[in-house]
Amino acid sequence: MHGAGGKVLGRGLADAGFVAVRVYRHDGGPLDDAWLFGVLDRAAALRDVVVAPDTTGYRLVHGEADGLPGVRIDWWDHHAVIVLDTEAARPLVDGVVRWLVERRAPRSVRLCYRLDPRDEARRAQAGDALDPTWLVGHPPRSDVAVRENGIVYQVRIGGAPDVGLYADLRDVRRWFAPMMAGRRVLNTFAFTGAFSVASLVGGAAEAVSVDLSEESLDRAEANVVANGIDPVRHTALCDDTFRVLDRFRRTGETFDAIVLDPPAFSRTNDGDVWSAKRDWPRLVAAALRVLAPAGLLLAVSNQGELSPRNYRGLVEEGFRKAGREGREILWATQGPDFPSSTTFPEGRYLKVGCWSV
Ligand SMILES: C[S@@+](CC[C@H](N)C(=O)[O-])C[C@H]1O[C@@H](n2cnc3c(N)ncnc32)[C@H](O)[C@@H]1O
Repeated sequence: MHGAGGKVLGRGLADAGFVAVRVYRHDGGPLDDAWLFGVLDRAAALRDVVVAPDTTGYRLVHGEADGLPGVRIDWWDHHAVIVLDTEAARPLVDGVVRWLVERRAPRSVRLCYRLDPRDEARRAQAGDALDPTWLVGHPPRSDVAVRENGIVYQVRIGGAPDVGLYADLRDVRRWFAPMMAGRRVLNTFAFTGAFSVASLVGGAAEAVSVDLSEESLDRAEANVVANGIDPVRHTALCDDTFRVLDRFRRTGETFDAIVLDPPAFSRTNDGDVWSAKRDWPRLVAAALRVLAPAGLLLAVSNQGELSPRNYRGLVEEGFRKAGREGREILWATQGPDFPSSTTFPEGRYLKVGCWSV
């Protein structure tokens, strides 16, 4: 890439989507192994510092924050999953695999894609090429047990890029769990139950996981058992969060802590549509109506396009709607293995707030 007067601006890979060029170097040098190994060694050195020894599932490379736009690598106990945001980054993959094999000796390396939903034309064009590919080894025959601060979670390497554990919330779980000792926790949009399991390990008397997906709840129950927790302390409810919250309000059931971690968009079996942008205040208000006095509300948004200021505003609107006052006791973002660059602060996509009532 050259600027006016022939000045070298950098070296990158041309992309056909809404990003024209993914810039990897700012000095015009080649995108060879010597450069790539340097970039990957630096990313790995950061994880050696910030990831605790009893944590075996984490993000090894986080896109542009680690100098590799469009490339993410997750490490799940000796299984590496490379996730590309764009086919344009494909020329880097062989070098990444050479580095993984040389430096980390993975049992398997899988390549998959997560294209931006706005790039619909390209998604349609790419078709089968987007199916996951095994570049080293074979798909593990069963779920892989990873540890997070000593707690066991089972991840499914061969399925969707979301293997079943959102490692970016690890530090939030570690902060939250010990406060749950002796308390009743309601974990909505629970997915594979990570917050429920962490709370139960932290001593929660009971955790209730709510999700629309029966399969995810089965996995939540498996995670409970994998940690030697008495399954009677965990209840899985396959239902819509709003319906469950409304039912608890009518029956007068309350919880000492409620976790809200909804997706950006979803549709229930009854055809109701949840849209994070529109429905956050309604969700917060519904949760507050079943939160016990001195209870904690933990609310998570992973929507990068929602600014922290606007997100906080939506939550505060929910408090007003419910006629309750809250005190913010935590404001956090993703963990340190999901860094954001000083030149790209928008990369701080995760917003986590915790309020006491
Ligand atoms: C972002 S994930 C939640 C991640 C989870 N909190 C964790 O820490 O692993 C969103 C989950 O919400 C579930 N979901 C979507 N719409 C729902 C609804 N209306 N009611 C209950 N669960 C829903 C999905 O099935 C999915 O498992």
